Amino acid sequence: MRVAFIGGGNMGEAIIRAVVEAGVARPGDIAVSDIMEKRRSYLAERDGVLAATDNKQATWEAEVVVLAVKPDSLAEVMQGLNGCLEAGQLVLSIVAGVPIERICSGLGHKAVVRAMPNMPAQVGEGVAVWTASEQVNDEQRQRAQSILSAMGKEMFVSDERYIDMATAVSGSGPAYVFLVIESLIDGAVHIGLPRDLARDAVLQTVIGSARMVERTAKHPAELRNLVTSPGGTTAEGLLQLEEGGLRALLTEAIIAAYEKARMLQQ
Ligand SMILES: NC(=O)c1ccc[n+]([C@@H]2O[C@H](COP(=O)([O-])OP(=O)(O)OC[C@H]3O[C@@H](n4cnc5c(N)ncnc54)[C@H](OP(=O)(O)O)[C@@H]3O)[C@@H](O)[C@H]2O)c1
Repeated sequence: MRVAFIGGGNMGEAIIRAVVEAGVARPGDIAVSDIMEKRRSYLAERDGVLAATDNKQATWEAEVVVLAVKPDSLAEVMQGLNGCLEAGQLVLSIVAGVPIERICSGLGHKAVVRAMPNMPAQVGEGVAVWTASEQVNDEQRQRAQSILSAMGKEMFVSDERYIDMATAVSGSGPAYVFLVIESLIDGAVHIGLPRDLARDAVLQTVIGSARMVERTAKHPAELRNLVTSPGGTTAEGLLQLEEGGLRALLTEAIIAAYEKARMLQQ
């Protein structure tokens, strides 16, 4: 598959690496355009992809054009590409907060997929929630699906509002989880555990707990009850977390991120 990347930053790089590793696209079939010459040459040298000198050039011959610039650069990018894409080319936007309708009108193009991937895509453990405009045909859907599944799990939704919700949950989510991991390590160090041991123990606890929820399909509360013996140590810890409002705080964090995602659209 021939893929063009407009923007070769963190996410662009993660997607390039994932599609090459999964064999979805060969490096020679990938063109990258980034406003920073340094980024283009870094990706060309490291991944063997083609560095395009401008956005239009990158899109020539591409079956899929990935928009991977920051939201505030998108208007300029779309202006430059307006009317330049062929009807058969698929645009895959990962730009947070920008609705399909705006991308279609900004580019003068109808076949658009909007996806919200997340950073663990860098290690093949990402999740991408995506939707498509009506004009995206089956073949184009399959192309989008194979790019997104190269990064981890992909989930199609027909309601575009779910993309903004996913932005607040899985898009921002890794940052919340990193903060939790960091805090647990700090707590472990605080009571005297050596830092490297604390790091390994916390990481495996987070990975193992997530796997348990996944594999047992039990409700998290049921699993939590299983590790909470009456009058035991876990009950003491949980009481502190509940008193500190952890549950409500996480919900509020998601609501705040969702509201911000919607505000960015106005
Ligand atoms: N990072 C995440 O976890 C994540 C998750 C889901 C979705 N996203 C979305 O993915 C998009 C990219 O995020 P990112 O973290 O990869 O950002 P990033 O690292 O800033 O990458 C964007 C790249 O595009 C370049 N660029 C800016 N204007 C351009 C133009 N006119 N033509 C070509 N390239 C241009 C930027 O150059 P300069 O640095 O010079 O501006 C930068 O190298 C964003 O819209 C974000 O909402 C990100």
